[in-house]
Amino acid sequence: MPKILVTGALGQIGTELVAALRERYGADRVVASDIRMPTRGRHEAVGPFDFVDCTSLHQVREAVNRHRVDTIYHLAALLSAVGEEKPQVAWDVNMGGIYRVLEVARQSGCAVFFPSSIAAFGPSTPAEMTPQETIQRPTTIYGVTKVSGELLCDYYHRRFAVDTRGVRFPGLISHVALPGGGTTDYAVEIFYEAIRNRRYRCPLGPDTRLDMMYMPDALRATIELMEADAAQLVHRNSFNITAMSFTPEELAAQIARHVDGFKMEYEIEPELQKIADSWPDRIDDGEARSQWGWNPEYDLERMTVDMLERLEAKLSRS
Ligand code: NAD
Ligand code: SER
Repeated sequence: MPKILVTGALGQIGTELVAALRERYGADRVVASDIRMPTRGRHEAVGPFDFVDCTSLHQVREAVNRHRVDTIYHLAALLSAVGEEKPQVAWDVNMGGIYRVLEVARQSGCAVFFPSSIAAFGPSTPAEMTPQETIQRPTTIYGVTKVSGELLCDYYHRRFAVDTRGVRFPGLISHVALPGGGTTDYAVEIFYEAIRNRRYRCPLGPDTRLDMMYMPDALRATIELMEADAAQLVHRNSFNITAMSFTPEELAAQIARHVDGFKMEYEIEPELQKIADSWPDRIDDGEARSQWGWNPEYDLERMTVDMLERLEAKLSRS
């Protein structure tokens, strides 16, 4: 059984990944950490929580040594939209974080999960069925840190035999924690607004096609890759994975089938649109499927039905 440290554990992914890992391996084997403190009763009541700034070698090392950690899920990062507002901070957190996590992993013999992104691609990347290995010239600071992180993880595996693994997540849709400032956040916000107001003002144009995935698939992908037989992995880091590819117009039409009178308006945010336009329309995840059996369960229709049902229940309680 692994002993796990999760950085950035209070974010959109970490909130649910910590719960999934605790269910699988036991609550006391998963240490959640972040630079924010958890809402009372959320994390510390069900398992250990530490304050860890991932840019501090000392704090990452202390947490790994104190809890005898052997596996780090490194989630802490600034996402694409926030990153463009604060590029210097995005570089410090995203690159400073992965470098220090890899250094501690090298010194302490830890395995590392690093989530890259469709943002690791850019406008010169083939947009349709983007291959696993292709042109990567991103135009956002977030994308630059993701490509660099992918390469650094490859390097630490090749040079120091650190067991690094990772995926390129598409936009993630979930109903537990809110997204943290990405370009794909609209695909979550739209559900909240559909339930509360039956209308949504979308910051991306109606034809902006992007890859997406529902959180249960993302959690399963993460755990399955980390448990996969290393001998099967040709790439190890930064596997393309996807579950669906849709435009705002297609998502709105799907929601309108279940929410009477739902209306979508468009108020395009040029900076966000520019980022979205630089990313692929649809990536090819064939290598993940063949190397470690990746197979998503939720398509657009199934995700929409489940999101609406669970979010309605959540909002009616609040
Ligand atoms: P998020 O923004 O929701 O959460 C990030 C967390 O990191 C926050 O809780 C924040 O407090 C914490 N953090 C920020 N700076 C820190 C620091 N210096 N030290 C420790 N913690 C710090 O992000 P998320 O959506 O949960 O994403 C997690 C990872 O997955 C990121 O690397 C992100 O790039 C990647 N990813 C996410 C998506 C997505 O759609 N959510 C898609 C592709 C890749
Ligand atoms: N969902 C993320 C973002 O939009 C993709 O990495 O930033």
